[in-house]
Amino acid sequence: MSDMSGKVALVTGASSGLGAAVAGLLGRRGATVFGVARDEQRLAAVVEQLPGGRYATADIADAAACRDVVARCAADLGRLDILINVAGQHAMRHTVQVTDEEWERDLAVNLTGPFHLCRAAIPHLLEAGGNIVNVASIAGIEGQAYSAGYCAAKHGLVGLTRALAVEYTAQRLRVNAVCPGGMLTPQVTNFTLPDGADPNLVMRVASPRGLSEPDAVAELIAFLASDAAAAVHGAVYTADNGKTAG
Ligand SMILES: NC(=O)c1ccc[n+]([C@@H]2O[C@H](COP(=O)([O-])OP(=O)(O)OC[C@H]3O[C@@H](n4cnc5c(N)ncnc54)[C@H](O)[C@@H]3O)[C@@H](O)[C@H]2O)c1
Repeated sequence: MSDMSGKVALVTGASSGLGAAVAGLLGRRGATVFGVARDEQRLAAVVEQLPGGRYATADIADAAACRDVVARCAADLGRLDILINVAGQHAMRHTVQVTDEEWERDLAVNLTGPFHLCRAAIPHLLEAGGNIVNVASIAGIEGQAYSAGYCAAKHGLVGLTRALAVEYTAQRLRVNAVCPGGMLTPQVTNFTLPDGADPNLVMRVASPRGLSEPDAVAELIAFLASDAAAAVHGAVYTADNGKTAG
């Protein structure tokens, strides 16, 4: 377990599920957390528990909002050591029924927003010798039914992670991704299936071991974000209870 005292971590999706678990764990390990999400009340409830924690509401589909939260974090807390892109959304739909707006939104929230956050954060992270952890999904390394936009975006996020890792090989920046399988969070418990969905196709995403607790996946993310993972760069870790093992 690595002491993260003195580090500043910007965590998106910090109001709920995995992001709240990551924010709490980093805070308990001594990092100062800057939380970002949409719902101010739920975000405040998480971040106000953390010593020195700050937060800002933003829709990460908005490029200017991404730039603003990074600038606010660096200005308010004086530095930025860690960017953890957790925020994401997943809605299942029959592909032929997906509207142009739904497709754009899937990509904006799950891929373009993390790109805008990475681009804005990198100068600060280079200065600090910091790192990025992108939360993709097993939908970023395999296909999932009724999830064309989500899968395309999460595959893109894995590709973005690897591209940045290669581009910054010679500089003081580490970039890694985590691909969770099913976790017990509101994204899963509030799920609705499209009418007429084939349950056999839907169940192909499930691990026989069941859903993971977000706290368990947060442990892996906290490790990658810490100095204990100094040798880990450009890695794509699954945390899926063996789902993709074969
Ligand atoms: N729950 C799962 O089974 C599962 C599996 C694989 C990957 N994931 C990924 O893990 C991450 C966290 O998901 P979760 O399960 O904790 O879900 P969740 O619904 O509990 O939390 C999602 C968080 O993202 C934030 N968010 C969503 N859209 C946003 C936007 N446009 N702007 C700003 N914030 C936004 C929400 O405010 C919330 O804080 C997501 O990237 C998700 O795709 C989840």
